[in-house]
Amino acid sequence: MALRVGVVGGGQLARMMIAPAVELGVDLRVLAEEDGMSASLAATAVGDYRDAETVLAFARDVDVVTFDHEHVPQSVLATLVDAGIAVHPGPHALRFAQDKLVMRARLQELGMPQPDWAAVTDAEQLQAFLDDHRGRAVVKTPRGGYDGKGVRVVSTGTEADDWFATLAEDARGGALLVEELVDFTRELAQQVARRPSGAVRAYPVVETVQRDGVCAEVIAPAPHSGGRLEDVAARIGITIAEGLEVTGMLAVELFETTDERLLVNELAMRPHNSGHWSQDGAVTSQFEQHLRAVLDLPLGDPSPVSEWAVMVNVLGGPTNGSLDDRFDAAMTEHPGAKIHTYGKAPRPGRKVGHVNVVGGNLDDVAYEARAAASFFDD
Ligand SMILES: Nc1ncnc2c1ncn2[C@@H]1O[C@H](COP(=O)(O)OP(=O)(O)O)[C@@H](O)[C@H]1O
Ligand SMILES: [Mg+2]
Repeated sequence: MALRVGVVGGGQLARMMIAPAVELGVDLRVLAEEDGMSASLAATAVGDYRDAETVLAFARDVDVVTFDHEHVPQSVLATLVDAGIAVHPGPHALRFAQDKLVMRARLQELGMPQPDWAAVTDAEQLQAFLDDHRGRAVVKTPRGGYDGKGVRVVSTGTEADDWFATLAEDARGGALLVEELVDFTRELAQQVARRPSGAVRAYPVVETVQRDGVCAEVIAPAPHSGGRLEDVAARIGITIAEGLEVTGMLAVELFETTDERLLVNELAMRPHNSGHWSQDGAVTSQFEQHLRAVLDLPLGDPSPVSEWAVMVNVLGGPTNGSLDDRFDAAMTEHPGAKIHTYGKAPRPGRKVGHVNVVGGNLDDVAYEARAAASFFDD
């Protein structure tokens, strides 16, 4: 019988696991939030991932459960584990990707380089942190943020009062995370795959470009990353993967500071936007690698197949018509561009697809990826 992987969540990350699953003959099943989602092609169930019964019923028919996102509650994960179901990444690892305060505390224990940070529960504490950090800081909601939602640069203690008020309403109480405003030259991302039995493989460190808090472009490998930088980034990724006992794909978002240090920004324990280049630019894509890792199969070679790969996100999509209306023009003009779409309706700012281009000259590759992606927005 085919190996069966169950993915909780029907977004584009689940969708992009479908192609490698078909190639390997893995029976991929998705628990989607609703009909018509990105991964609906593989959806065998539709239901609420916060409901233990729903997730358990889905999980009973697969060999391993994994995720499209980090939002499945710990109580639901515990139900699965108690029922003897293999869950990768496991609840103990996922905690660190679910809550940025829990993550910061654990990374500190592991001795990982990171921005100065504190947990703050009111405007006075936030102001005290600002006073110690040249009057500027980044406040983050510890849970549920993505694409820059839940991240705010502040210069006075009262600028997060709305978030403190929301926390006060939450019965569990809690704190906000505040971090020093890092003076970075660029952002990088390090991906590592880890099997339950312990083997790890690191991808080359990549450069990510965020616009308005959303990933816009990725260059793989990060320019000027040979030697020390590549080694330091890989070491950080592997230390975190092992220290947190991550299983599956881990992405570590990093800042490269003006004084050439690497600081950990945040973690994701699933395939990640910074690794989409690997679909067309690496021997083993992050989506295949994730399947191998959660099935505890030998990991594939993460090496690039070309000197450079550039990934450009399609954000928003066309304001009139659909993405495939633009195929003819884009494909005619850019036969070397690999176009990936997520089956999502265009909406301002929404990630609806991406374009990968690989080749030997970074300027040419970047130009072609941007030009091809530009056919899909206006
Ligand atoms: N401490 C910081 N200093 C400077 N910029 C930051 C800091 N934290 C986050 N940012 C910026 O905000 C973006 C989003 O923050 P992040 O914590 O990664 O949130 P999200 O979960 O939305 O991706 C980062 O990619 C970076 O550009
Ligand atoms: Mg981020």
